[in-house]
Amino acid sequence: MHNVSHEIRYKMYDTSAELEIQDRELLEAAVAATDTAYAPYSGFHVGAAVLLETGEVVQGSNQENAAYPSGLCAERVALFAAASQHPETTIKAVAITACFHDTDELLSVSPCGDCRQVMAEYEHRYQSPIRMILTAGGGKVMVIDDAKTLLPLMFNADNLKR
Ligand code: THU
Repeated sequence: MHNVSHEIRYKMYDTSAELEIQDRELLEAAVAATDTAYAPYSGFHVGAAVLLETGEVVQGSNQENAAYPSGLCAERVALFAAASQHPETTIKAVAITACFHDTDELLSVSPCGDCRQVMAEYEHRYQSPIRMILTAGGGKVMVIDDAKTLLPLMFNADNLKR
């Protein structure tokens, strides 16, 4: 037996003004997408913006349902829209933010396990890391170089090989 540990590395910015221009613009697109959330049950509006290698940005927001599990997170709304509209185009980055419906304060948000799995799938599909830009509360922004960092020991297509 031996012990194994994993370390997670990411960058923390004190304000979005410190971000690279491309990341800042992508985060602004995610903020704008919170306006399109359909979240009558939680009141928690999530916005996501996916950057493609062509420079095109695809936005998404959470879509809730009275049958709760039928709803979908903002990240997967945006990722599935991007991958279905542009199946041959590599996904380069995803920005994610959230706010309660009655305030503009950007909250700390981190993709759920299912969304991490979907991002990791597209990293595998396009053989390219997906940078994640996440609001971290108090105006701070977290940047993570790839989705697999948030999903150690993931299940992927390699597990299905005989
Ligand atoms: N939600 C997202 O859209 N993305 C996340 O990363 C976390 C949670 C949504 C799902 C649901 O509509 C609401 O936020 C509360 O969980």
